[in-house]
Amino acid sequence: MKTMAYFCEITIIKFIKMKSLKKIFFLMTLVLLNLAFVYGQKFEGLVPTPPMGWNSWNKFGCDVSETLIKEIADAMVESGMKDAGYEYVIIDDCWQIGRDEMGNVIPDPERFPSGMKALGDYIHSKGLKFGIYSDAGTKTCQRRPGSRGYEFQDARTYAEWGVDYVKFDWCYTSTQNAQASYKLMRDAIYKAGRPMVFSLCDWGLSKPWLWAKDVGHLWRATDDIMDCWDCEDDRNNGGFTVLLDRVADLYSYSGPDHWNDPDMLEVGNSGLTVTESRAHFSLWCVLAAPLIAGNDLRNMSKETLEILTNREAIAVDQDPLGKQGVKVRDDGDYEVWVKQLADGSRAVVLFNRSLKDEKMSVRWEELGYPSYLKLKVRDLWEHKDQGLFKKQYTATVPSHGAVMLRMTPDN
Ligand code: GLA
Repeated sequence: MKTMAYFCEITIIKFIKMKSLKKIFFLMTLVLLNLAFVYGQKFEGLVPTPPMGWNSWNKFGCDVSETLIKEIADAMVESGMKDAGYEYVIIDDCWQIGRDEMGNVIPDPERFPSGMKALGDYIHSKGLKFGIYSDAGTKTCQRRPGSRGYEFQDARTYAEWGVDYVKFDWCYTSTQNAQASYKLMRDAIYKAGRPMVFSLCDWGLSKPWLWAKDVGHLWRATDDIMDCWDCEDDRNNGGFTVLLDRVADLYSYSGPDHWNDPDMLEVGNSGLTVTESRAHFSLWCVLAAPLIAGNDLRNMSKETLEILTNREAIAVDQDPLGKQGVKVRDDGDYEVWVKQLADGSRAVVLFNRSLKDEKMSVRWEELGYPSYLKLKVRDLWEHKDQGLFKKQYTATVPSHGAVMLRMTPDN
């Protein structure tokens, strides 16, 4: 086997033989690599399109176990969710119960008797990826051990377990600085040497969209989603329409490998009607939001599965241009959202927040197209081409619902 010393020797010989311009270039590259190491970096290119997966929190809270997680992984494959693009199986809070005398984090032995490495292996054996949760502070939000002071040790442990995704929360952080704390964990993950998606979760408190592009792959821009249309609690959590409003103006900060995260999906839980769930999913896709399902994948209605696996809607979310959609019209209860797509077409969502069905139109200039163009219109819920249109398109949008379209210039 060729040793490191052998490669060093070859490199030195090559360096001596190099012309001086090449030598300077070579040395500069070395310096830059060193700087990257000293100043830290995230693993680049892990989520060129928004991550897709499932997370335990919305439906199961602290009631997590290896049995549940395995069954969810099985269901993700068997239901067709995996084929539709869902990949990460993420255990949120409550899997951890303490630390041993060496400071190693201890998973709950009753709920995870086979240990996390075995669980990670199981998830990987299904062709899926393994996600885990911790917190930048001394405790997680459910008062389990946080990673404060154990960042490098925890990142190493996660790497040993085969973790592919780390969600890092912000409870019990006292006077900690968010940028410093999240950079520390980013560096710890990088040092651990295993590519892991780093999901920041300070609920938008430190405005991570302004500074976290080189720190994490996605950042929560809002407090927690609630399973309702527009309810809110006294801790700033809210239903999907509430969070939608909070993330709307942040479109310029989102893009490949650095996504705004308006929180996980509530599709398939009990608080939304099918029409509302379709609207929630349409809007999350137009936002280029991470699509992290939060329901029980083992028991899904036909409608829930149809929504979560709508490939035409998912293609909008996963479009390689990676643009977050923009609200181009807001007439009170009636909104038009537009997302530019890589092939030059647009995804459009006509969103009706009112209590009755309404005819809504979108004009070409609102899409950034000249009005003389003919556009092919496809309805992404009906899965139907509607034909060729000039100047504007009109559709009846159900109360609390959305019509989702793909509009493509006709040559
Ligand atoms: C916070 C996060 C949620 C969830 C819980 C777990 O509230 O924002 O997404 O992770 O903690 O305790």
